[in-house]
Amino acid sequence: METNKPTATPDAATLMQWDREYVMGTYARQPVQFVRGRGARLWDSDGKEYLDLLAGIAVCGVGHSHPKVAAAIAEQASTLLHVSNLFHTPLQPQLAKRLCELSGMEKAFFAESGAEANECALKIARKHAKLRGEEERVEFVTFNGSFHGRTLGTITATAQEKYQAPFRPLVPGFRYVDVGDEAAIDAAVSDKTCAVMIEPIQGESGIKEVPHGYLRLLRKLCDERGALLIFDEVQCGMGRTGSFMAYQRTGVMPDVTTLAKSIAAGIPMGACLARGSAATTLVPGDHASTFGGQLIACAAALAVLDVMEEEGLMANAARVGAYLLAGLRAIGDDLPGTVKEVRGAGLMVGLELAQPVARALHKGLMDRGIVTNAIGETVIRFVPPLVITEQDVDEALAAVRAILPAL
Ligand SMILES: Cc1ncc(COP(=O)(O)O)c(C=O)c1O
Repeated sequence: METNKPTATPDAATLMQWDREYVMGTYARQPVQFVRGRGARLWDSDGKEYLDLLAGIAVCGVGHSHPKVAAAIAEQASTLLHVSNLFHTPLQPQLAKRLCELSGMEKAFFAESGAEANECALKIARKHAKLRGEEERVEFVTFNGSFHGRTLGTITATAQEKYQAPFRPLVPGFRYVDVGDEAAIDAAVSDKTCAVMIEPIQGESGIKEVPHGYLRLLRKLCDERGALLIFDEVQCGMGRTGSFMAYQRTGVMPDVTTLAKSIAAGIPMGACLARGSAATTLVPGDHASTFGGQLIACAAALAVLDVMEEEGLMANAARVGAYLLAGLRAIGDDLPGTVKEVRGAGLMVGLELAQPVARALHKGLMDRGIVTNAIGETVIRFVPPLVITEQDVDEALAAVRAILPAL
């Protein structure tokens, strides 16, 4: 068979042109092509080195191309890549057990993304109510500013007009409440509510931690009114805040929680974890995924957990995260009128600027070889690999300090 394989790899400019021509334009990509990564460092096609404080948006928790993760993937790739979930394989149960023990949950379902993990959580909630004979209990309550994914179900859960508007009509049965509004949540959770779903730290809307007292109120209302409590930890979970799950810092346990992003260091994987009756709701035929929990993703995820333990990455996230928070706050103190707020937990930090200059700061940082991400016009997001050091943070702080006054 003849294929249309090019005779040589085209240069970066040609490939960017092909990207514009042949890839659907769903991403406003930066004009840079990354070709290599190691730890918290990336290199582009011109050989320029970057300090990566974005980590593929909270994906590369153990850093880029960690040798142990790479070795686990390579070994699995040459052993067995795929058999159907209709058969037992050796890695999925090991990973499920470790995730359940670390999170306090009881059972796992493996998907390939955060959105799919959340779809699983939503389906558990609907069926959980039906199993109890509560056919009318079909509503979800989610929160303004949330982000739960891009499938039709999860954009409906994502209470942000810009994501929903082009795709209406959405999935029926969702109500939205402002985070922190006690009267509104009291009014919204009823005998029709099958679940309340929330990110303990809202990532996509600017790194906003939900007050722990409000999470406690959600737990109480769900318990009293017969709804499940779902925590979406796709972005904030996996050790990023200094504890394995962000909710472990709050004292509030959900019934169902989801992980994805850094779970397998960049190999696609999502997990929906559940406890109690939520854990046994789904039975054969209810839910499935061809690639869910595939061997290579499980091998990567198990290696990620090993690396996190061996290298003390959760403690590092707590320590270096506090250092980053303090350093950004000091910049705000030293340069009055530039910084509105610095917030976050562990290595999930948002710098809210007093002026709408986030994109300009992001570009200035890129020019100096520091990768971050602008959320809207005023927030810079820092979700670096959990392996970064105080020296890395010093480099970033010096750059922010140098750029900010001129914006
Ligand atoms: C909190 C949260 N939930 C869900 C998702 C969706 O994850 P995915 O893009 O893997 O579907 C994201 C992605 O940014 C997220 O931050």
